[in-house]
Amino acid sequence: MATGLIRRAIARVPASVPTARVILNRVHSSEAKAQLVEPSSKPTSNIKTFQIYRWNPDSTQKPELQNYEVDLKECGPMVLDALIKIKNEADPTLTFRRSCREGICGSCAMNIDGRNGLACLTKIPSGGASMITPLPHMFVIKDLVVDMTNFYNQYKSIEPWLKRKNPPENAGKEILQSKDDRKKLDGMYECILCACCSTSCPSYWWNPESYLGPAALLHANRWIMDSRDEYTKERLEAVNDEFKLYRCHTILNCAKACPKGLNPGMQIQNIKKLERTGF
Ligand code: SF4
Ligand code: F3S
Ligand code: FES
Repeated sequence: MATGLIRRAIARVPASVPTARVILNRVHSSEAKAQLVEPSSKPTSNIKTFQIYRWNPDSTQKPELQNYEVDLKECGPMVLDALIKIKNEADPTLTFRRSCREGICGSCAMNIDGRNGLACLTKIPSGGASMITPLPHMFVIKDLVVDMTNFYNQYKSIEPWLKRKNPPENAGKEILQSKDDRKKLDGMYECILCACCSTSCPSYWWNPESYLGPAALLHANRWIMDSRDEYTKERLEAVNDEFKLYRCHTILNCAKACPKGLNPGMQIQNIKKLERTGF
């Protein structure tokens, strides 16, 4: 992708807001009839404003926030529900990634009111307007969709697969490990590669190419700690680098941002400890 066609998302508020207002307030005729028969004192709508980052590479317009108003009484409870409603009913040009809508695929990661998170697991915040922007300090492809190429290449660089020097005794069979050894992978195998952690880390913002970032390092530790893997020493040597590993300054934004409750900062500390003390 030509770099000229993409912009860094730095979650800044452009000068010109709002640029459009769309009211999503569909009243079904049956509901309208019921209201005529039984007048209710309850409010029939609950309008919430979403300020959403928009940028189209095919347009000469600068990035901007666009306002959409959604009736929460006619919308599911999660931020992803609101985005889907806006796209389906008001503005099909709004672009974002999503797939599983249950916190498994990691594709709906974005910044919601200043915090990275998964739109499908984040309840629509109560109160005033909510601002939704792409993951911070990533190149934007369109609207809320960011370029994950560098992130995935860093993941690939830690060789996230089982590596053996000796073929297993029973070729074609599982390589077993004890329950205790399996337990050592808890807190790492659950990662869904959403990038909420890496894109919340100031060290990663400043050195996105040379620092591997919390997600890739968490996975490096996952394979370092796997009792079945026979390349532990080589894996440690591969990340033992002033930039790849030691740009982590234990800021711990990563742990606060992780929607799966993982603590990549702690896993990075484990790698550093093993580098110091040997395995
Ligand atoms: Fe996402 Fe958490 Fe994995 Fe980071 S550690 S990529 S925040 S699931
Ligand atoms: Fe960044 Fe987490 Fe380390 S926020 S500096 S990777 S502890
Ligand atoms: Fe899959 Fe949100 S849609 S994690």
